[in-house]
Amino acid sequence: MRPVLVTGAAGFVGSHLCESLLDAGHAVHGVDSFTPHYARELKELNLEGPRAHPKFTFHEADLLGAALPELTDQVGWVFHLAARPGVRDSWSDFEDYVHSNVHGTKTLLDACAGRDLRVVFASSSSVYGDAEHLPVTEETRLRPISPYGATKVMTEVLAGAYAQAHGLAVVGLRYFTVYGPRQRPDMGLARFIEAAAQGREIPVYGDGSQLRDFTYVEDVVTATIAAAERGRPGGVYNVASSDPQTLLSVLDELRSASGELSLRFEEAKLGDVRDTWADTTRAREELGFEPATKLSAGLARQIDEATRRRRALAALAG
Ligand SMILES: NC(=O)c1ccc[n+]([C@@H]2O[C@H](COP(=O)([O-])OP(=O)(O)OC[C@H]3O[C@@H](n4cnc5c(N)ncnc54)[C@H](O)[C@@H]3O)[C@@H](O)[C@H]2O)c1
Repeated sequence: MRPVLVTGAAGFVGSHLCESLLDAGHAVHGVDSFTPHYARELKELNLEGPRAHPKFTFHEADLLGAALPELTDQVGWVFHLAARPGVRDSWSDFEDYVHSNVHGTKTLLDACAGRDLRVVFASSSSVYGDAEHLPVTEETRLRPISPYGATKVMTEVLAGAYAQAHGLAVVGLRYFTVYGPRQRPDMGLARFIEAAAQGREIPVYGDGSQLRDFTYVEDVVTATIAAAERGRPGGVYNVASSDPQTLLSVLDELRSASGELSLRFEEAKLGDVRDTWADTTRAREELGFEPATKLSAGLARQIDEATRRRRALAALAG
């Protein structure tokens, strides 16, 4: 088994992916630059497991300055998860999104072109925007309604160009609202859990009836590894539970786990899509993808980990 490369290894999904690959016996090279869109301390905690493993090598570097050709020379699979994620800040911090999601992707693809390896990259449900028909299939027209979504379309287009021009084996995955332990602190559930723990009011953007296709991080990791093993080169797959929930029903779940919540409803944010709901037939048929984790179980694990982290960070702060 050749080693594998994971970009965005210190991130939420990337750190879980590294752990699963290490558990499966792979040697893993992780690249991450600790971009400042959330605290480095949290990303260091994400890396605790991988760093403790003898087969993990970490490279702190930006994709644009990393020694990628030396790495892609050795590996059989490349998982490209490094990106500036999140819809809302993409209106203001666009340069940063273009740097990581467009230039970063092209730099990585340049280092992969002409080599005998497979690239699996993370795209997003944001590429669909407000689709006319739900659930969305991979054939649904791409009409992002945020600059972030537009950069993810560009990620896909670039990957397609390298597949066509260089014969590179690339597989794209459109992740839908990933949740679970270590979720990024800017994401809805993570914000709700923190607010509930501190007895703060929870701002809810929109009326709470919007649907989200919440997908547990371990299920996403399983699909990501399956894409490297048997994804169709040039193919793209929705990765989702395909079991959408309203935000209000998720808040009900949180209420049963954490006690009474104080909600404050605000205007929906620009770029937030109204509903997300994926048809996952293709991933089921071609990758054997079967999401296994129910929201109540996954949410309980996310709450437990959030509590552990709060304690770890308090201990660090001394
Ligand atoms: N979390 C979700 O719900 C979700 C949904 C759809 C798509 N995605 C995609 O999945 C991937 C992982 O998302 P996440 O939620 O784990 O995000 P994350 O921010 O936790 O992880 C991304 C990591 O990439 C690193 N990074 C960013 N730019 C870099 C660069 N130029 N060079 C090196 N490292 C860089 C960051 O430091 C970060 O640790 C991203 O591509 C994201 O767009 C995530």
